[in-house]
Amino acid sequence: MDIKEAGLCEGISEVIVTTQSASGVPNAAPIGILSREDNYFVSLYRGSQTISNVLEAKKLAANVTEDAVLFVNAAFEILSSDYYSLFHGFHVLKEANSWILFECECVEERVESFLFQIVPIAVEINMMRVRAINRGLNAVIEAAVLATRYDIIETESEKEELTSMIARYADIVDKCGGQREKEAMRSLTDKI
Ligand SMILES: Cc1cc2nc3c(=O)[nH]c(=O)nc-3n(C[C@H](O)[C@H](O)[C@H](O)COP(=O)(O)O)c2cc1C
Repeated sequence: MDIKEAGLCEGISEVIVTTQSASGVPNAAPIGILSREDNYFVSLYRGSQTISNVLEAKKLAANVTEDAVLFVNAAFEILSSDYYSLFHGFHVLKEANSWILFECECVEERVESFLFQIVPIAVEINMMRVRAINRGLNAVIEAAVLATRYDIIETESEKEELTSMIARYADIVDKCGGQREKEAMRSLTDKI
């Protein structure tokens, strides 16, 4: 099983994680998968649907994609059933370049998050793509990380700082992004 071929490299790989509840209701959210010497981990903040599903079903799927719009939609919306297909009986995103299905074990409970070690049990590569670094795509991902924190920060000055950082990323998307990155950034700025 070559996880690196499927797109998960050393360090933190930003993917869309799909999960499902014990009764099979799917969910999708951007999550970073940490890779350390062929061991894989996720750190999940308390309160998300993702952590509740992982605690229930003990599985998650990493969906590797470079689609900026998909990242933003997964972060802020409930995706309709049209987005999903099944891989080994588990919900994954139809459009992803690859899927890696993991079993999850909680290895550390922290104040704000849980750390899970995740072990790959199945991999499928749907699309091999070569793409140069695009600063617009990176900027959308950075802005999306900040935007998902917007509701949990409390002071006005923190919110102002975050808004001005997002505005800086929006400038980069304007300059360097393609259509997908520009659409994603528009939808992200509408959300906050
Ligand atoms: C690029 C990116 C990476 C993220 N990584 C994580 C992560 O590693 N762990 C986490 O708990 N939340 C992470 N988040 C935040 C979640 O995606 C966000 O809280 C989301 O709204 C959770 O959705 P859910 O309630 O449907 O699970 C990340 C967000 C983005 C945009």
